[in-house]
Amino acid sequence: MDNFYSLREQFFSFFEKRGHVPVPSSSLIPDDQSVLLTTAGMQQFKPYYTQIRDAKKDFSSQRVVSIQKCFRTTDFDEVGDDTHLTFFEMMGNFSFAPLGSDDPTSYGTEGYFKTSAIVWGYEYITKELGIDPSRIHVTIFSGDNVIPRDDEAYRIWKDVVGIDPSRIREGGREDNFWGPTGVEGPCGPTAEIYVDGVEVWNIVFNEYYARMSGEQLEFEKSETPGIDTGMGFERLLSVVEGKSTFFETSAFLPSIQQIQKDAPHLSVTQTRMLVDHMRGSIFLIGDGVLPSNKEAGYVLRRLLRKLITLAIQEGLEKELFTTLQQQIIDQYSPLYPELSLVQTQQIWDEEYDRFKESITKGLKELEKHIEKKDVITAHDAFYIYETFGVPFDVIQSVVPQEKQKEFSYKDFEKAQKEHQEISRAGSEKKFGGHGLLLDTGELKAEDEQELAKVIRFHTATHLLQAALREVRGESITQMGSDITAKRLRFDFSAEEKLTQEELQRVEALVQDYIQKDLPVTKEVMKKEDALTSGALHFFKEQYPDEVTVYTIGQGDTVVSKEFCGGPHVERTSEIGSFHITKHESVGRGIKRIRAILT
Ligand code: SER
Repeated sequence: MDNFYSLREQFFSFFEKRGHVPVPSSSLIPDDQSVLLTTAGMQQFKPYYTQIRDAKKDFSSQRVVSIQKCFRTTDFDEVGDDTHLTFFEMMGNFSFAPLGSDDPTSYGTEGYFKTSAIVWGYEYITKELGIDPSRIHVTIFSGDNVIPRDDEAYRIWKDVVGIDPSRIREGGREDNFWGPTGVEGPCGPTAEIYVDGVEVWNIVFNEYYARMSGEQLEFEKSETPGIDTGMGFERLLSVVEGKSTFFETSAFLPSIQQIQKDAPHLSVTQTRMLVDHMRGSIFLIGDGVLPSNKEAGYVLRRLLRKLITLAIQEGLEKELFTTLQQQIIDQYSPLYPELSLVQTQQIWDEEYDRFKESITKGLKELEKHIEKKDVITAHDAFYIYETFGVPFDVIQSVVPQEKQKEFSYKDFEKAQKEHQEISRAGSEKKFGGHGLLLDTGELKAEDEQELAKVIRFHTATHLLQAALREVRGESITQMGSDITAKRLRFDFSAEEKLTQEELQRVEALVQDYIQKDLPVTKEVMKKEDALTSGALHFFKEQYPDEVTVYTIGQGDTVVSKEFCGGPHVERTSEIGSFHITKHESVGRGIKRIRAILT
């Protein structure tokens, strides 16, 4: 376990000596709305690259160093092999303009560029970690018809570091250029360090800025160049500990051994997936994410449901998960105090109770499909997923290859998208569907009676959000909601809990809206019009061109306007009497209200 902690200290101290200020990891949920989750160390520093913020003022240095929590969903389906993870940590050193002398022997605090970044990277790997130069090769950007070859980086590797040209390789856009895909931002050519053929360090020279011009990105020379580097902690650890996969390193070994002891019948792939998904879900929960059908909440739900399905398929006891959670949190909480065992277990239990039965049914139903049908398509998979919540990757692993037709994740997403467009155009189309009478993720009803109740709660939820914004201002946004026939649960962004007095005001306001007997109207609008109307919506959600907007009140009495699939009551007086039953904090910056109707 030693390296697990000491490697971090060694990394920080190497760069601190060279004028860098250590900055704690930011949340997995970024402030930057262009991305769903934090996928790289540089993300929290974007405003410093563009000089919207001043590093000198905030850090007293143009140089910072961090180890950042990251989550990448692109590798979801690969988890279990030797090289893919969803959650991982990324080490990095960063430098911001204005640049100083770029002399690697000067340990000052001014911005540096290619020479220092390359020299220090190589020095850290070969001198600090003592990795033999004969195991190393390095790379530069080869250039293409838009951006020229990085001659400067080549010269630094060869003349300043003194690497033999046979160990300097060139790569194109794919490998040696880093930048956001499809969105504006700092970007540039990269130089990498490989050990035994495995990439450990990516050094990005942010000397360009990608700007949207019509549909295309155009690259212009940046006036505020900087350095962004990234080195996967788990990968570096495997090099340091001489392991061929990170699952054998001290980061994973305690968890892997725990599972091998408690569930020796699991395959290697299953064991690794279990650890990866458990880590991922613990860290998402630590940053205040709750399972839902949207955005980060959906990523968490996918992880949890895969674990629940594995538990059902392989007959795993709940204790196994509890022990594993405990073990991972003990290991990581000295570094990340936001991780919470209580919170993790509560969310795990809720999700488990909610889906256990449904997934069991779903797996049975899937077996029937497989028996009866010659081919199974992504639409069939979507039906099983939508009705029972069985994750697509599980369905994929159960359906025999020869019966799969149009069955890639892309096909599944297409089927899902078609379905979402139908359901947004009017959620009533879902009624009388399969299984539950209504299941929008947010609302669930088994029969007509429950349906009438959840509809009242649903409108009450819109009123609650409106009242919260009235009392606390517009910074309040919805983070999730969950509605049953018995109660509503509403999560929203807020640093501080509401005071007793504020809660009373919120409750009274909702009651006031109800008593005013306001009309609730539904409109199908063009997305742009809906956006300009100021209707509330989830920023990261991709909406279709036509959306439904529900408005409560009319003219001067409009109290709420939201993008929403419905259904809602016709007039607020149908809601009844509204009572807040509980107010709590459920994570950093996220607060929750539970309420009932009488
Ligand atoms: N942003 C680069 C990466 O993610 C370097 O940190 O690889």
